[in-house]
Amino acid sequence: MDLRAFLDSLGCDLLRVPGEIDPKFEAAAFLRELRDGGPAVLFETVKGYPGARVCGNLLASRKRLASALGSAEDRLAETYLKLKERGLPPVAAKGEAPVKEEIKTGAVDLLSILPVLTHYERDAAPFITAGVVLSKDAESGRRGMGIHRMMAKGGNRLGIFLANPPLSQFYARAEAANRPLEIAVALGVDPAMLLASVVRVGPLGPDKMEIAGALRGEPVELTDGETVAMEVPARAEIVIEGRVLPGLREVEGPFGENTGYYFSNVSPVMEVTAITHRRDFIYPGLCPWTAEVDNLLSLAAGTELLGQLQTMVSGVVDLELAAGTAGFSAVIAVRGCSKTEVRRLIHLTLSLDKRLKMATVVDDDVNIREAREVAWAMATRFRPDRDTVIIEGMEGYVIDPSSAQSGVGAKIGFDATRGAGPEFDKIAVPAEAMTKAKAIAGKLMEGR
Ligand SMILES: Cc1cc2nc3c(=O)[nH]c(=O)nc-3n(C[C@H](O)[C@H](O)[C@H](O)COP(=O)(O)O)c2cc1C
Repeated sequence: MDLRAFLDSLGCDLLRVPGEIDPKFEAAAFLRELRDGGPAVLFETVKGYPGARVCGNLLASRKRLASALGSAEDRLAETYLKLKERGLPPVAAKGEAPVKEEIKTGAVDLLSILPVLTHYERDAAPFITAGVVLSKDAESGRRGMGIHRMMAKGGNRLGIFLANPPLSQFYARAEAANRPLEIAVALGVDPAMLLASVVRVGPLGPDKMEIAGALRGEPVELTDGETVAMEVPARAEIVIEGRVLPGLREVEGPFGENTGYYFSNVSPVMEVTAITHRRDFIYPGLCPWTAEVDNLLSLAAGTELLGQLQTMVSGVVDLELAAGTAGFSAVIAVRGCSKTEVRRLIHLTLSLDKRLKMATVVDDDVNIREAREVAWAMATRFRPDRDTVIIEGMEGYVIDPSSAQSGVGAKIGFDATRGAGPEFDKIAVPAEAMTKAKAIAGKLMEGR
């Protein structure tokens, strides 16, 4: 299983774009156009990069996300939680590693090799957005991985946004010892590995490479890096190796973030020491603030949180992160919870994930994946004076513009569960009539 095998499995759910596309704005514009669902895309001709291809929108639909995990769409959360628990350790690659077909070491000029996309109009430079950044803790030898945005600064320099552990901690420890932190950035990995890389495992969590193996149903094949003392995914399309320098910070941004706002930071700098890639590599695009980001967060942060909450509060049925909110807003469906249990649930939810700023709790007769239904529950079941929980003086999340300056944020919970009386019963057409109507309408709509 690798990115190519996944693209081949998509059939007509993959849109091939033969005409020339500019990596500056045009590819992102295309991905934005298809951002609410839409097919996966493969740009076959990239301006200025003969032989290179760019893909995107791969996980923009839950159907494709489910197929990447070999799951039915309506059992995605259940499948994810079951698979993730297993863990499947990586293995050494047998034979030649595809990612080593071309090896370039020394002071490589990154942008002359890779068609890094520029997405939004005020972005300061092209940004790598789907790089799985790998590193090891010098003290414990523990592997860490996550997606970290990287600004192509020209030549062999990249700015790297290290807001989150474990990589931010590894870097802090290396820097305290005045040593560079070696990292490798895998680009063009299969969807299960991309997803595993952003699972919220916390500081003592398992190796995400094992989670990736379990999610894809096959161990990840690893091979040694060329210039870094760490293993890298052998079947990636591209690997960038290098070191994050100690004691150096530079402006990184502005960059159109997953929040829908531009965000700048003063960030560490990586010096590239090697780029290895497949001969006809496919560069992975991931356009910020799109359904693809929503879906990654939905499982890696949302379902992860659901699993935790279900062990703490009985009656928690489902959880979804609201689209477009960079994971700041969650909706939870419950069955049979009292008002006081809902209040405890709200406090737990808002504390377990530091990024989460809003939690809305509804009954399980509400479809939490339909904004209309959630708005309906809020409008008709929620009473502001009684059903609001506000928690002040909490950690703010750095990319949230409302708390970025002070570093302090507040959190809010809404209890939009129904009261006991029949006046809260949802209207419904009898099931039999619905089934018949669906069948007839489905047939008539076919081929229209
Ligand atoms: C699309 C996407 C982009 C991300 N970009 C960054 C980033 O630029 N910098 C960062 O520190 N974390 C970023 N993250 C979050 C980390 O990858 C994430 O916190 C980490 O993998 C969570 O795992 P942990 O529990 O091991 O910390 C991003 C996550 C996603 C889903």
